[in-house]
Amino acid sequence: MNHLSGLLSSSVFTRDELLKFLKKAHREFKAPSQLTVLRESLGILAFFEPSTRTRVSFEAASLGLGLRWIHLRPEDSSLQKGETIKDTLLTLDNYNPDLFVVRHKSSGFPEVAAEWVKAPLINAGDGMRDHPTQGLLDALVLYQLSQSPLKITFFGDVYRSRVFRADQHFLRLLGHRLSICDDESSETALTAEAYKLPLVSRKALSKADVIICLRVQTERGSTVARRPLDKSDFGPKTLIMHPGPAIQGQDLSEELALFLETSSQSLILKQVQAGLCVRRLLLVDCLKQRGTLK
Ligand code: CP
Repeated sequence: MNHLSGLLSSSVFTRDELLKFLKKAHREFKAPSQLTVLRESLGILAFFEPSTRTRVSFEAASLGLGLRWIHLRPEDSSLQKGETIKDTLLTLDNYNPDLFVVRHKSSGFPEVAAEWVKAPLINAGDGMRDHPTQGLLDALVLYQLSQSPLKITFFGDVYRSRVFRADQHFLRLLGHRLSICDDESSETALTAEAYKLPLVSRKALSKADVIICLRVQTERGSTVARRPLDKSDFGPKTLIMHPGPAIQGQDLSEELALFLETSSQSLILKQVQAGLCVRRLLLVDCLKQRGTLK
């Protein structure tokens, strides 16, 4: 993995690199290291799709790093006058940023954009393909929970989920036993086949150590009528993760959402906290290589 070129996809991590990253992230989670700012740096957040967690956690993670953010707001930018995304990013790159963080609906956009700009680029989610920082934070939550293999079942719109694609890569590297909950749709069956993962029945969900519930991606054309995850799907020790935003009535029932607000079976807010730590570590690595931080 070379942070000089940012983080374009989850696949750049080998098992050894992932373990090294998670050990470091775990240490940073407990006690953030002391850093010296050598010069002010500039980051550009270019989100062409909505975001709360990813965008805000990059901003929050940059406190104390001497990093100032500029937001490209596509809806208020000259893209509205017909400028191409390439010309927009080339323009921004000439303000000499130290890094870009980009999210776009097109799978593979980060690799294309990285060819246009000189600054390192971090992928904050591209289409259905990948969400490496989410995969890393989910891996960190599970690493902190157990370093032995866990039974983990994905539930929901796996077919359209970039979080599924990132998670399955990292969680396989960690040796977890992965499966997908069958919803009797052909797209879920195809996804299970493509990723060589077993399909398990809804009844078997309660036997999982962890259920990773994924958002129904209506913006990417989801049509499967799937009963939302419910408390009846849980065993007494089953843990649940969701990358957020969790849509009540679609991903999970309103009753379950209420239960999870106070239940220790929910890892959802731990995911939020891990996101801050993972993104800070990526920023620190990138800025150290830029020579703005030591
Ligand atoms: N999980 C995730 O990417 O959330 P946001 O869309 O809020 O960034």
